[in-house]
Amino acid sequence: MQSRQITLARRPQGMPQAADFAIESRPVRSPGAGEALVETLYLSIDPYMRGRMNDGKSYATPVKLGGVMGGGLVGRVLESQAPGLQPGDIVTGYGGWRTHWTAPAEQLRKLDPALAPVSTALGVLGMPGFTAWYGLTQIGRPKAGETVAVSAASGAVGGVVCQLARLRGARVVAIAGEARKLEWLQAEAGIEAVVNHRDPDLAGALAAACPQGIDVYYENVGGAVLEAVIPLLNKDARVPVCGLIAQYNATALPTGTDKLPLLMRSVLSNRVLLQGFIISDHEDLWPRFLAEVAPLVTSGQMKYREDVVEGLEATVPAFQGLLEGRNFGKLLVKLA
Ligand SMILES: NC(=O)c1ccc[n+]([C@@H]2O[C@H](COP(=O)([O-])OP(=O)(O)OC[C@H]3O[C@@H](n4cnc5c(N)ncnc54)[C@H](OP(=O)(O)O)[C@@H]3O)[C@@H](O)[C@H]2O)c1
Repeated sequence: MQSRQITLARRPQGMPQAADFAIESRPVRSPGAGEALVETLYLSIDPYMRGRMNDGKSYATPVKLGGVMGGGLVGRVLESQAPGLQPGDIVTGYGGWRTHWTAPAEQLRKLDPALAPVSTALGVLGMPGFTAWYGLTQIGRPKAGETVAVSAASGAVGGVVCQLARLRGARVVAIAGEARKLEWLQAEAGIEAVVNHRDPDLAGALAAACPQGIDVYYENVGGAVLEAVIPLLNKDARVPVCGLIAQYNATALPTGTDKLPLLMRSVLSNRVLLQGFIISDHEDLWPRFLAEVAPLVTSGQMKYREDVVEGLEATVPAFQGLLEGRNFGKLLVKLA
């Protein structure tokens, strides 16, 4: 049996190009003792993968040139030499962009397909959902009546942040870049106020949507959205700094007026707590996340969207689309 896989052929400069990747076939190893052979059903595509393509100092090791692109997957066990795993079991693990994976059982977590669609293990009930829950509840800590602004609000992380904040009684202002995303946030996710970050007067539109200022800004993007947020931060505001997707393809520092002094003045005068976090440091809180969010998903109270493309060849174009905002919801590649 052969596995088809996507490897990193060269390090992208700016937006990743098709020629930065290669699709290869490799023989699949039969599982040894304690291992299972998994056929991929869904690949996860996530913004952090852009950072792994660079060869620089980061919180995580870069993908080696010629190496398989890393990433989460959900798959079906085809063969097993591991106690507790049977052919047909559905599992999740960090297998990378490939159709088949022989893995030690300790790198696989068995899923219960009766709990929720198995693809949710890569989205609302997986790393992105956990990231949303952690950043909001442990750093943002919204109180009822406070204003919570969320960027990339219709995405895998942002969608969960918006709804958890709403369920805590906060007034949520959701920021996204397309009319269909803003409509979903209002009609499905029950969010009161929405702002399009492509509005030529973003600062004015955001100020109008936040008459009481902003108490929690859940930061997913940076760039122009952050610039519009800074003047609206209230005293004692909290800013969970989760992601900065607007600058992931940057090849140089920005030119033009430096907004950092403005930010720092607001941080000081408003006693703003600005805290970055990497979700993999907080695995101990995973059970608390699942205990809160899984019942919301199974009861239908937590809405989520998946944006599914098909086939390994669709992976790189889908990743490019994610960096430009063409995905709508948790981006997945369906392989089998
Ligand atoms: N700290 C951690 O441990 C951790 C873990 C997971 C994710 N993250 C971060 O969380 C953020 C969201 O991730 P996700 O998986 O939920 O992705 P996602 O929101 O499903 O997809 C990315 C979205 O970002 C928006 N975007 C892209 N470029 C933008 C720009 N220049 N300005 C404004 N918005 C832009 C686009 O939506 P629009 O149409 O709204 O523009 C796009 O659809 C990312 O920054 C990611 O790196 C961090």
